[in-house]
Amino acid sequence: MRAVDIIIKKRDGFELTKEEIQFFIEGFTNGTIDTYQASALTMAVYFRGMTDLEATYLTESILHSGDVLDLSAIKGIKVDKHSTGGVGDKTSLVVGPLVASLGIKFAKMSGRGLGHTGGTLDKLEAIPGYDINMSEENFIKQVNKIGIALVGQTGELAPADKKLYALRDVTGTVESIPLIASSIMSKKLASGADAICLDVKVGSGAFMKNVEDATKLATLMVNIGKNCGKDMTAILTNMDEPLGLAVGNSLEVVEAIDTLNGKGPKDFTELCLEVAAHLVLAAKLVNTIEEAKKLLQKQIDNKEGLNTLAKLVEAQGGDSSYIYSPEKFKAAKYITEVVAQEDGYVSHIDALAIGNAAMMLGAGRSKIGDSIDHSVGIVLAKKVNDKVCKGDILATLHSNKADVEETKKLLRSAYQISKTLVDSKLILKIIK
Ligand code: URA
Repeated sequence: MRAVDIIIKKRDGFELTKEEIQFFIEGFTNGTIDTYQASALTMAVYFRGMTDLEATYLTESILHSGDVLDLSAIKGIKVDKHSTGGVGDKTSLVVGPLVASLGIKFAKMSGRGLGHTGGTLDKLEAIPGYDINMSEENFIKQVNKIGIALVGQTGELAPADKKLYALRDVTGTVESIPLIASSIMSKKLASGADAICLDVKVGSGAFMKNVEDATKLATLMVNIGKNCGKDMTAILTNMDEPLGLAVGNSLEVVEAIDTLNGKGPKDFTELCLEVAAHLVLAAKLVNTIEEAKKLLQKQIDNKEGLNTLAKLVEAQGGDSSYIYSPEKFKAAKYITEVVAQEDGYVSHIDALAIGNAAMMLGAGRSKIGDSIDHSVGIVLAKKVNDKVCKGDILATLHSNKADVEETKKLLRSAYQISKTLVDSKLILKIIK
């Protein structure tokens, strides 16, 4: 087999075989196929696309380039969730404890934040003492014991993806649906769960800017997962404004705690219940989504979800007293208000700008290895369709530096105010 023939075949719009895809990915990973040929193939895929079967073979080839977690020693159905990345997205901190409190095994490896979206690991590290590192053996032990583990990667998952993504990033081939789907699904499948719920974000703050593209991506990821024997659900959700009110690490942990206490923002609570309900259904605890939501609401009302979060924090070396006394989280030094300059209704909040504003305050990193400040961030006071009068607070900036003029300007420009209400819905579509 020759790499050039595979490139030509895809360039001319033909379907590649499993063997051809495997040969190419193996060669690219071990260095026998060079980057110039890999960039030619990714560009051909960008223009020609891939069938579901080709995308499945690509996912499997990337998946098998590294370690694949064997979770068979964990009893019962193992569930996992994944978000394609949004601003203010702290869903795992609520969904994991809620489903685990029902006896469902939630075994999740998360990532760090990069760019305008935050990462679950950074949020967890805002809890003093929380250790995200764990061996595979201890990961399995902890999930068997308390039903949940939220950790960084153990071993080396999908190294071919790292190499391929770095190449796509500099060759204009990131925005290809089969390449995104195989990149995400290879890492998800390597983590070993039986049922996966995907939260595919749509809107200005997301990879997918419209419902049509998000539907294509979600459908392909669901089909890849099913082809690999997994129970799959994808939920398309609106990212035309940040999720919930808090953006920034410890601020988001506090919002997750509030939500587990039944006092979370409406949109964030709705999404957590939706994602968790699909996992409860996949774990076969109930027969309908409505029954699942009722069960989950009970776990909020009786504080069992909150208690499970405290157990998780304790098991991973953190100080669980913060979960019951969130006022203990170190506050930022300065709080600056951003106020409305006109009357009307909020019609749009640019999530990308809010994410970038949080990064300017020090809540995120612009390159791998940057340090972050857990205490800083933004708390929105107004969301889409809220009525505002001139002078009302739109949001507050929590910072450790006094001069936040630039960030304030960015935040003000993120808010659009109009004279009328707009159509706005959080959950746009469910694909199974
Ligand atoms: N996230 C990933 O992990 N891969 C992509 O290609 C895009 C988003």
